[in-house]
Amino acid sequence: MAMDGDLIALVNKLQDTFNAIGGDTVDLPQIVVVGSQSSGKSSVLETIVGRDFLPRGSGIVTRRPLVLQLIHTPDSSPSSSSGGGLSTSSNHAAALRRSPRIGGEEDGYLPTLESTPTAGAGVMRPGGKNMGSNTGAAYAEFLHLNRRFTDFEEIRKEIEAETYRVAGQNKGVSKLPINLKIYGPGVLNLTLVDLPGLTKVPVGDQPTDIERQIKNLVLDYISKPNAVILAVSPANVDLANSDALKLARTVDPRGLRTLGVLSKLDLMDAGTNALDILTGRTYPLKLGFVGVVNRSQQDINEDVPMEDARQKEEDFFKQHPVYRNIAHRCGTKYLAKTLNAVLMNHIREKLPDMKARLNTLMGQTQQELNAFGDATFLGEQHRGSLILKLMTEFSKDFVSSIDGTSLEIST
Ligand code: GDP
Ligand code: NA
Ligand code: MG
Repeated sequence: MAMDGDLIALVNKLQDTFNAIGGDTVDLPQIVVVGSQSSGKSSVLETIVGRDFLPRGSGIVTRRPLVLQLIHTPDSSPSSSSGGGLSTSSNHAAALRRSPRIGGEEDGYLPTLESTPTAGAGVMRPGGKNMGSNTGAAYAEFLHLNRRFTDFEEIRKEIEAETYRVAGQNKGVSKLPINLKIYGPGVLNLTLVDLPGLTKVPVGDQPTDIERQIKNLVLDYISKPNAVILAVSPANVDLANSDALKLARTVDPRGLRTLGVLSKLDLMDAGTNALDILTGRTYPLKLGFVGVVNRSQQDINEDVPMEDARQKEEDFFKQHPVYRNIAHRCGTKYLAKTLNAVLMNHIREKLPDMKARLNTLMGQTQQELNAFGDATFLGEQHRGSLILKLMTEFSKDFVSSIDGTSLEIST
């Protein structure tokens, strides 16, 4: 998979530019996780984000949709090398050049927060090495609460408390979403949705038609054409019984926006393996299948840090007699890379439209400037009102960083 350019820097620059000129922002796809109960949805989402903050566990833990909106904020720190901020456009370009590309060797994760003192040792953002300084206040806010959070453990507790508040103590499920926004200079504007698992038999306070209710809830989210479906199937259950794939197929019959995730590869029966699934011979999905090993319940109980779990996962694939040949396209890191490629392709598809919008806006701005009738103001040297400069440089950079980029997702 070739992927040039730093997606984060690119999109942030794009957002900032459109923000500055008052245009609409880039409409990135929503990433929605789907799967049966305890297939590992919350675990997968959490490792993609690169932070411990979601309630996970055996049984029904996720009982309300969690709509997690990552929101890029310009970096206020002048000495920062972060790609965020509107300080000057050349800084953007420099940051863009400096940034290790997303999905680079050391870090393939979607970005979340800058390293904050309270945030623990989680993986942060691509390019964390040279952008990891504690710049800008990264924080999170719930729609239902009027306060800011900077501690991920507290965020988890609040998700739990808010789940209980609306969905009750006894395994009830509510379609009322919990809305959480995470702000920071290191985040990509992107929405991720965690959902309750597909289930068949009512337990606790669940109504008799719980299967249908959860199905409808999931359909609400995955039927949007803009949704990228992360269909999580546990490897220790026959794929033919995958609720995730069954439901994804109803809204994406050609498998164009469904990315298969095969979890729990560590729990397969001895003597069996999922090679045929992972290499696309069992079930056709354009975006393919990625195998992952998340933290086990014991790992969770023992508070195994995310980084250790990642290392363990990597070792698992590298040392596995069957998977070691495809280890480079297994694991959470590769999943994040693939997602990034999906987002890149999406932006590429929107590129002509964005260029047209920029051109129109530039034309309008030029006309407004002409209306001033001041020749020197319009002279080559002075022409750079911030916005014009931004747009011009942006267009050049943007096009050059996208053109000639060959994006392919191996399956
Ligand atoms: P969800 O209900 O689909 O959101 O699943 P969770 O992420 O809450 O995980 C359910 C349980 O399965 C937890 O106890 C996890 O520790 C465990 N689990 C998830 N993925 C894996 C995996 O890849 N390997 C192992 N051993 N356990 C996993
Ligand atoms: Na669960
Ligand atoms: Mg869950």
